[in-house]
Amino acid sequence: MAEEMLDLRHIPKDRAYAQLHAHTLQVLAGIDDDIAGMATISSLVHHAFRHLWTGFYRVVQPDLLHVGPYQGTLGCLDIAFGRGVCGVAAKEQRSVVVPDVGRFPGHITCDARARSEIVVPVFDAQRSLVAVFDIDSTKTATFDQQDAAGLERLLTWFAGVGRG
Ligand code: SME
Repeated sequence: MAEEMLDLRHIPKDRAYAQLHAHTLQVLAGIDDDIAGMATISSLVHHAFRHLWTGFYRVVQPDLLHVGPYQGTLGCLDIAFGRGVCGVAAKEQRSVVVPDVGRFPGHITCDARARSEIVVPVFDAQRSLVAVFDIDSTKTATFDQQDAAGLERLLTWFAGVGRG
C-alpha cells in the first residue's frame, strides 16, 4: 500500500483538519484495532503538519499513562495522572493547549526543542478515557482551540465514529 502523505501546513486549519479526518477514515477503513489506529494517526498527523513529536500515552492503570505509538524523538515512558501537560489532560479529561511550555508548571521536557504543546483526551465508545494524544511544536503558540476541536473530532475514531 503506497498511501499519499498529506502536507497541510499552508492551508487554513478548519480545512486542514477536515481533509485529515477524511483521509484518516479512508486509510483506516476496515481496521478495528486501537494500536493500529494510534500508529496510523500519529504518522498521518505528524507528517501532515511536520510536528516535532506526535503520539499517544495510553492509560494502563487508573492513574498512570505509558507511552504508546508515536513519531519523533524518544518520548518519556511513564507519566502519572496530574503530572505534566499529559497528566493534567488525563486527570481532568479535557484538551490542554499550552502556548509556551516554559510557563506551564510541571511541564515534562522530553525534547528540549519543544516550545508549545497540545494534549487531547481519547475516549472509547463508553466514554472511558483510553489515552491522551500529545503533540509538540518547536515554535511557541502553534496550537489553539481550532486544533483542539479538529483533533477531538479526529480522535472520535476510538469511540467508533467512522470505524469499521
Ligand atoms: N511534555 C509532555 C511529556 C510528553 S513529551 O512531550 C513527548 C508533558 O508535559 O506531559
